[in-house]
Amino acid sequence: MAVLNPNKYMELLPGEVKTALTKVIHVLEESFMGFWIPDKLRDATYHYIRNRGKLIRPTLVLLMAYALGNGNGLEKAILPAASVELIHTASLLQDDIMDQQRIRRGMETPYSIYGSHTAMLASDLIIAKAVEFAIRSGDNDIVFELLNSSVKLAIGQSLESELSCKYDTTIDDYLRLIYYKTASLIESSMIVGAYSVNVKDTEIVSRIRDVGRFVGTAFQVRDDIIDYLNMDSKNPGTNYNEINIVRIMSRYDGNVNDAISKARGLLNEMLDKAIGTLRETMSNEVLVKYISLLRI
Ligand code: FPP
Ligand code: MG
Repeated sequence: MAVLNPNKYMELLPGEVKTALTKVIHVLEESFMGFWIPDKLRDATYHYIRNRGKLIRPTLVLLMAYALGNGNGLEKAILPAASVELIHTASLLQDDIMDQQRIRRGMETPYSIYGSHTAMLASDLIIAKAVEFAIRSGDNDIVFELLNSSVKLAIGQSLESELSCKYDTTIDDYLRLIYYKTASLIESSMIVGAYSVNVKDTEIVSRIRDVGRFVGTAFQVRDDIIDYLNMDSKNPGTNYNEINIVRIMSRYDGNVNDAISKARGLLNEMLDKAIGTLRETMSNEVLVKYISLLRI
């Protein structure tokens, strides 16, 4: 099992999608250019924009738009993709505060450098900008979709705090939690990609939601396994207050190896379901290959 090399995610993207992703990065970097912002707040706000992750969510927006728009319509997906990445960024700033996380993406976190007040205010700026980008997409369905998943993220994070005080968290509790805190935004990324190219047919949208939910669930299970095994040196430390599928599954018999292999089984089952539903809904092998990178 290895933590993925971020370049792998980029390598298989079609040229048009790579170009669109570069434009998304540019939009993100320009987000607050027109504002005077005190230095500390500006640094905290730009921290995760400059120190980017794998950009999985905006890439999913673009890949879905690419698949359903037959290679066209990527321009319209750029602002929604930037909006999705900003929502995710704001959630990381807040997550660092709540988890008292000092290192993320191999660097000291804004929470650690500037304190929780500045990190919280930076997340406010970012959320406001994410809403602006969604509105500027000119499609209210995109705005509502992204607002709804923002609500779900906060519910998910709150659910995690609640569950971490319990000793009898079940797998069903866990699945509900990770839908809210992680899968909902991945689902919305795929949905706004479809909306960007005006795909709104209820049957297709509902299948894309299923795909997003499956991928998002796989994504969080993967993150939990990696976190449990402390395999990602850039995101160190297992916080025992955080809910983790390996801890839940090994709680009664202490058999960690068995729990990891069951968690892996769930991850791969979710990816199989996502790929199966995708193939029934549209023809796009790039999306399938991209999603398959999550297998461990
Ligand atoms: C990281 O996961 C955190 C999340 C997936 C979600 C956090 C959500 C919030 C703080 C609510 C945000 C709400 C809005 C509207 C922006 P993790 O803690 O499991 O993993 P990590 O710390 O290892 O990344
Ligand atoms: Mg957390």
